[in-house]
Amino acid sequence: MHQRRLGSERVDKINVGLIGLGTVGSGVAKMLLSRGEFLARRAGVGLALKKVLVAHPRRVRPVRIDPRFVTGNPAALLEDPEIQVVLELMGGIHPAKELVLKAMKNGKSVVTANKALLAHDGAELFRAASRAGVDLYFEASVAGGIPIIKSLREGLIGNDVEVLYGILNGTTNFILTEMYRGGDGRSFKSALEEAQSRGYAERNPSLDIKGIDTAHKLSILTLLSFGKAVRPDQIYVEGIEEITANDVRYAHDFGYAIKLLGIAKRDGDQLEVRVHPTLLPNNHLLSSVSGVHNAVFVKGDLIGELVIYGQGAGKLPTTSAVIADLIDVARNIKYKSPQRVPPPLAHPRIRRVRRVGEIEGRYYFRFSCIDRPGVLARIARILGKHRISIASVVQKDRRREHIVPVVMMTHDAKERDVEAAFDEIDRLSTVRRKSVFIRMERG
Ligand SMILES: NC(=O)c1ccc[n+]([C@@H]2O[C@H](COP(=O)([O-])OP(=O)(O)OC[C@H]3O[C@@H](n4cnc5c(N)ncnc54)[C@H](OP(=O)(O)O)[C@@H]3O)[C@@H](O)[C@H]2O)c1
Repeated sequence: MHQRRLGSERVDKINVGLIGLGTVGSGVAKMLLSRGEFLARRAGVGLALKKVLVAHPRRVRPVRIDPRFVTGNPAALLEDPEIQVVLELMGGIHPAKELVLKAMKNGKSVVTANKALLAHDGAELFRAASRAGVDLYFEASVAGGIPIIKSLREGLIGNDVEVLYGILNGTTNFILTEMYRGGDGRSFKSALEEAQSRGYAERNPSLDIKGIDTAHKLSILTLLSFGKAVRPDQIYVEGIEEITANDVRYAHDFGYAIKLLGIAKRDGDQLEVRVHPTLLPNNHLLSSVSGVHNAVFVKGDLIGELVIYGQGAGKLPTTSAVIADLIDVARNIKYKSPQRVPPPLAHPRIRRVRRVGEIEGRYYFRFSCIDRPGVLARIARILGKHRISIASVVQKDRRREHIVPVVMMTHDAKERDVEAAFDEIDRLSTVRRKSVFIRMERG
């Protein structure tokens, strides 16, 4: 690994260049400007905001910054030899990637909150950081204020991680929580509107509700916990749009909560990496995570089970994560130990990522069928033919000759068999809507 030549001079102050002055950037700028002394004492070195790069330099900002610090010209920040750390808080892949690469090439360490960039190009960025002998820190990219990255990179580093599940998207968790609300739930559409009216969901919420945002974050956590780079487009992703308030209620009646989980688990030399709505037993630690909160569950061979919970987004929690990274990087510069925490290493045993059809587990099924004698028996016969055994069944809201939901929980079954059985069941004339299955995790 290339190491920068570092002199023996004392470092009393670290100059910081900030890219982006939006929700997160303005929070970070405000902290640096208003808590300078406090942060310097905590860091053991002064932190000075030297330049800020934005798209619209003349825009009036909620945070008061000397206009001489603000620029629209990337070179003014990236070519400034006095700036040692760049905070990339603009988001998006381009031009953020080019700016980060250029900063590192110019010998500057980088702190970023950019999950999309890391999920798509993390491996390339880590290589570039290694080559330049600088740090790349990214705590704010997953679960906002929750220090899960530092936990995986440092606190849990001696563990062989077996399983990691995360509630990594506050918008979808808020919607699913609203859809239950003590059994008196509301539709997906109405819960989404509530999330939008409270500012928890974007006007175009598809990245969140389709599970893509969770896949970005899971990709980063998978690299850290299993040393395997899995791009978001290689992850099986299912969102929450098909979940109904009835599914949430029926699952609860069976003793489960429905959560959108990012799941990564190792089985021998194979890895499962997937994002989908999941039934978790009510006594699982993640089941009680409600509203916009995030939580991550990790099972390691030494630590056993660990849960970390908190605010997964928002100006102040995300600022907390960026400042923590900045202080780590500043200390590494001060004590001349960049790359003290090396990039994630490949797991020696993982050979391949399983396809979703290969997974095995328990399932929740919902069929919408005509309430008529013999219908249930026919469904059960098809399931049996495909080696799926039923653990419990409930026929809800019975009304002769009307379409009624039939809800089942299964024992362990192979997903490939579930898909084959559903193909057959959905062709029955008495089954009137596309049948639904939701995967379960035991915890
Ligand atoms: N918001 C959260 O709660 C949260 C939580 C965790 C992680 N993150 C991540 O943090 C990052 C920033 O998010 P945000 O919500 O703060 O974004 P934001 O409010 O949209 O702010 C983006 C900032 O970047 C600047 N910018 C955009 N394009 C630029 C360009 N080409 N050159 C220079 N500056 C440019 C904008 O400048 P102007 O102001 O001049 O337009 C703006 O100040 C994203 O990667 C996001 O995923 C956000």
